[in-house]
Amino acid sequence: MTTEPIVILSQREIDKMRQAGSLAAKLLQHLEPMVKPGVTTLELNDEAERWTQAQGAKSAPLGYRGFPKSICTSINEVICHGIPNAKQVLKEGDIINIDVTPIVDGYHGDTSKTFIVGDAAPKVQKLVEVTEKCLYLGISEVKPGARVGDIGAAIQEYAEAQGFSVVRDFVGHGINRIFHTAPDIPHYGTRGKGKRLRPGMVFTIEPMINEGTYEVEMLSDGWTAVTRDRKLSAQFEHTVVVTEDGVEILTQAN
Ligand code: MF3
Ligand code: CO
Ligand code: CO
Repeated sequence: MTTEPIVILSQREIDKMRQAGSLAAKLLQHLEPMVKPGVTTLELNDEAERWTQAQGAKSAPLGYRGFPKSICTSINEVICHGIPNAKQVLKEGDIINIDVTPIVDGYHGDTSKTFIVGDAAPKVQKLVEVTEKCLYLGISEVKPGARVGDIGAAIQEYAEAQGFSVVRDFVGHGINRIFHTAPDIPHYGTRGKGKRLRPGMVFTIEPMINEGTYEVEMLSDGWTAVTRDRKLSAQFEHTVVVTEDGVEILTQAN
């Protein structure tokens, strides 16, 4: 949790965040065709690291608070922060969230998507679709004068109406030259509560939506967060900036 002041970025800094965000989105696009039965999460990691370096960028997760790899790969019941591993092979019907954060010229671009490996059951597809819609419903709330609680409320209302639950233990975050800073952006909450949004604030929205309980269990590696009931969890993430008249998604390929 973060208690620093919320910083307002200058136009120049926002331009830097847009460059980092664009590279992050392109990295996910680059990895997507590799997401097939038989690929290992280490292969995804190694290609991400190779490609990031080839673009002259750095992988923020590598060495961050001791995280050992360059991306997070979170399969099925893994909520977030899954560690790529040579023994972890994707199979038909799995879902995998790939979360990337390149650093370009000191600034972070943080984005993730959940991919379905081959074909999956309709209820699995529904979880993934609802989670992506949760991200966009959250983003739609962002404009000057809105409150942080508006974002979480919009996400929680929709996720729960669809029969799913919202993870509490991990939240979106301010991001700039610092990977995780103020404000916290919970994906649950109450309209009209929380900090007011101002132009130039930059943060992530990254809802983790579960099939069953929202309760988290940590694995003994100290990173991997799984659902307590081992049911599925999906996640989508963008980095956004509050603009004078609304919001801009910074993690878009272009
Ligand atoms: N990218 C993740 C996020 O959305 C953070 C990963 S931190 C790591 O905030 F150390 F696990 F890589
Ligand atoms: Co991320
Ligand atoms: Co993030």
